[in-house]
Amino acid sequence: MERQIEQRNREGKLPGEDVLILAIETSCDETAASVVRNGREVLSNVIYTQIALHTQYGGVVPEIASRKHIEKINQVIEEALAQAGVTLENITAVAVTYGPGLVGALLVGVAEAKAISFAAGLPLVGVHHISGHISANYLEYPELEPPFVCLVASGGHSHLVIVKDYGVYEVIGRTRDDAAGEAFDKVARAIGLGYPGGPMIDRVAREGNPEAILFPRAKVAENEYDFSFSGLKSAVLNYLNSCQMKGETFCQADVAASFQKAVVDVLVEHSLTAVREFGYDKFAIAGGVASNSSLRAAFEKECGKRGICFYHPSPALCTDNAAMIGAAGYYEYRKGVRHDYTLNAVPNLRL
Ligand code: KG4
Ligand code: ZN
Repeated sequence: MERQIEQRNREGKLPGEDVLILAIETSCDETAASVVRNGREVLSNVIYTQIALHTQYGGVVPEIASRKHIEKINQVIEEALAQAGVTLENITAVAVTYGPGLVGALLVGVAEAKAISFAAGLPLVGVHHISGHISANYLEYPELEPPFVCLVASGGHSHLVIVKDYGVYEVIGRTRDDAAGEAFDKVARAIGLGYPGGPMIDRVAREGNPEAILFPRAKVAENEYDFSFSGLKSAVLNYLNSCQMKGETFCQADVAASFQKAVVDVLVEHSLTAVREFGYDKFAIAGGVASNSSLRAAFEKECGKRGICFYHPSPALCTDNAAMIGAAGYYEYRKGVRHDYTLNAVPNLRL
């Protein structure tokens, strides 16, 4: 067996042979591992979510996240291998998120991936978390190929990206302050909904009137594709304050629906302007906020009107998972990207 591993290392996989990536993701509050075949097929996708642990604090507590990752990582990887029906001997390479994210959380995955890579003699491939989110689309749509425009909206990021080729990105817009998911989480907390706020607002907003309160849609003067959500968040807080001062109660569902509409309008307008201006006919969404039902419906409608093909991973592939890291890792592996054991967590890694 040792000889086989050595051979595989030196020569890589032979043409036509399946490439199985064992992927690990621990950048925030999900401990996740997955086995992905040829960048497109999910053989297993195991996620241990820590959400319940962090809910009582109203957000992710980095220390608790790291400790829980350490506790769960081995079990999650074993489950991912077992569910895929493989052992490390069948794996071609280990891919791991090494940034951006919480440094202590990232370190657990990176250390684990390095240990497996060393022990099993497997190539190590570091993956950018956002590249992973974007690549979730390759799992959902086996026929999708670059180039296309992608909106990445998650708890930590709001990026408008041109995907020029596999793993080749041009970021044309980013947030100047809060990420879209962060705004969802903060507003949810302010109106008395728990963490994570996105799914709660999504649910409550269905009962509310999105036109009830006119919240601002911010534009950034210097770059029409950049986002800014902190003014919107402040507008919601001001509205709640003024209700309180007047001794009036506010309608939670109306605030949720009106806030959500403001976020969706901005995301849709910026994204579809970019698709038109840059001359693409394919548009994809990614990241936790991409699982928002109102956002998906709005893009469906607007892309339909404009004849743009709209790609949207199923909600379980939008929020953090390791399968998306396996998809991105596959294309990095194919390009010849190999990391050595100096690979480190980079909390503010740029795309
Ligand atoms: O991509 P993700 O799982 O983690 C990061 O990389 O940040 O995104 C998590 C974010 C949270 O802010 C959460 O509130 C938001 O995605 N989110 C949603 C929905 N589901 C998750 N936001 C709006 N609507 C949803 N249905
Ligand atoms: Zn994420």
